[in-house]
Order: sequence, then structure tokens, then C-alpha cells
Amino acid sequence: MKTLEWEDNKLKLIDQRKLPDELTYVWCDNYRDVIVAIKNMTVRGAPAIGVAAGFAMALADLEGVDLQMAAKEVKAARPTAVNLFWAVDRVLNSNEDALSEALKMYEEDMATNRAIGKYGAEIIDDGDTVLTHCNAGALACVDYGTALGVFRAARDAGKNINVICDETRPRGQGASLSVWEMQQENIPVKLIPDVASGYLMSQGMIDKVVIGADRIAKGGVVNKVGSFMVALAAKHHDIPFYVAAPYSTFDNEISIFDTVIEERDGDEVRYYGGARICPEGTEVINPAFDITPKELITGIITEKGIIDPI
Ligand code: MRU
Repeated sequence: MKTLEWEDNKLKLIDQRKLPDELTYVWCDNYRDVIVAIKNMTVRGAPAIGVAAGFAMALADLEGVDLQMAAKEVKAARPTAVNLFWAVDRVLNSNEDALSEALKMYEEDMATNRAIGKYGAEIIDDGDTVLTHCNAGALACVDYGTALGVFRAARDAGKNINVICDETRPRGQGASLSVWEMQQENIPVKLIPDVASGYLMSQGMIDKVVIGADRIAKGGVVNKVGSFMVALAAKHHDIPFYVAAPYSTFDNEISIFDTVIEERDGDEVRYYGGARICPEGTEVINPAFDITPKELITGIITEKGIIDPI
């Protein structure tokens, strides 16, 4: 199963809005379709957004659209995951045609995740219970995943591992995507409300935390909102807190505190399971990501090994 595939000069995407109940696909035959799919979360997760953006550029090229103009539009799809900007710039600066460069990124993503898994499996002990937040799995990449790739690799190395997924309000990527992926793999998994992880840590029920990242810059890591609170609770309980991410997620130029944090529609918070849970018209603050300062991070698992935060 691949999150995205290039077939018949079109981009085929798993429709992640329909999981876990339906495994269906959306086809993009022009670059603007890909932009819509990134905006409406058909495809999400930093590496997957990056590779999709690469194929958006390839489609723009096939359509005969000016690539500088397409690049501006693709970069405006979502603001936080640096992989999107990295992928568009890579196509623009490539000596090859846009499609060849996009296909290269697609292949590299799969190899990168397996390398992250190999290094990450070393920090997992037999019998560990590991907490993750949001979905840094196959569905957030071309396949295999970063944080969930570490769990796959640990299991394949013969280690027993139990995974606990935060539900990840408001959009529920932990519940709908990470739990589903772990069940497909027959890796034991339990779902918890986001607010429960501190209590579970206090009860000795969590050995390690492994999450993904949308941007790693000077001073820390940006990832799905809620990651920072998990890191604080982990520090309090002396539980190792790892981030698994490829080098395409690094932004060495800026301070992490200068990252643009996406603010999403308030209805994601006002409604739960289709029903409004607050008085009509309630004002909402809905940041999609937060910043975990480097002091709270034990290590970053990359495709080249485990390193300190920058
Ligand atoms: O809003 P999303 O679903 O795109 O956010 C995804 C995350 O925050 C992931 O943890 C991150 O992109 C890492 S994916 C390997």
C-alpha cells in the first residue's frame, strides 16, 4: 500500500479523510487538484505533502504552466511542513525534468524511512510500550513511516512492542490513521484520549515517546499540536522523548520559534463526530502545530543516525 502513486501521468492519493472506514483514492490530473488535496487533507503528513508537491510541479510542467508561478501556488497550500517548500525548490533547482525529480523524491522517501526505522529500532527495548502522537506513519510518507516505521522495524527485529496512540484532537489522526496502520501490521495498539498520557506516564505505563516532525530548526521541533505537552509530561517522568524525521524536514536557516504555525478552521474544534459541542458561534483558537523546545528532546532519529536537536 502506497499513500501516493504516479500512474498514467496522474497522481493517485489515498483519501485519508475517509479512513479508517473506507480505503478509497483521489486522482489528480492537474497541479491545482494536488493543491486542493493538500489543503483539504486528502494527503497530509510532512513527507507525503513534500512528495505530493513534487508531483504537483511535475503536473504543472506537463500542463505547460510556468513553473515559477506554479511554485508560488503550491507553496501556499499549507504553511508549516518544510518538506513542501523543500520539494518545490528541489524541482525548481533540478537539472532534470520535473517528473524525473519528483519520481526521485518518491523513491528516496521509501529508502529514507527504512533507514530511519533501522536506526530507530535500536532505541526500542524488547517489551517496550511506546507512545506516539498524530500519524507519522506510512500514511504521512510514501510508505513505511518515520515514527511508525521505527515501530515496524523494531517488531521486524524480533522485539515485542506495544504502541499507544493519542487520539490527536481535533482531527483525530492518531485514532483514525495510526491505530489503523498498527492494526494492519498486527502490532498491539491501544488508543487513549490526548489528556491521558500524563497519567499513564505517572503509572509507569509508557517507556518511550516517538513522534514525527513537520519542521526541525534551531532550538527545537514543530509537530502536531499536543506534542509539546507530551514532551513536558515525559520530561517530568524522565521518559525518553524521540523525534523521527528525515533531513528534508530540517530547516537550518531559521529559529524554530519563527516557524509559521498553521491556524485551521474553528469548526474542527466546535464539532465532534458531526455534532456541535459548544454554543453556536463560540470563538475558537485552533493551531494545527506546536513547538517542542530542544531541552525536552532526547534525540532525533534520522536516516543517517540518531543526532542531537539543532
Ligand atoms: O496536519 P497533519 O496531519 O499534516 O500533521 C501531521 C503531523 O504533525 C505529523 O506528525 C508530521 O507531519 C510528521 S509525519 C512523518
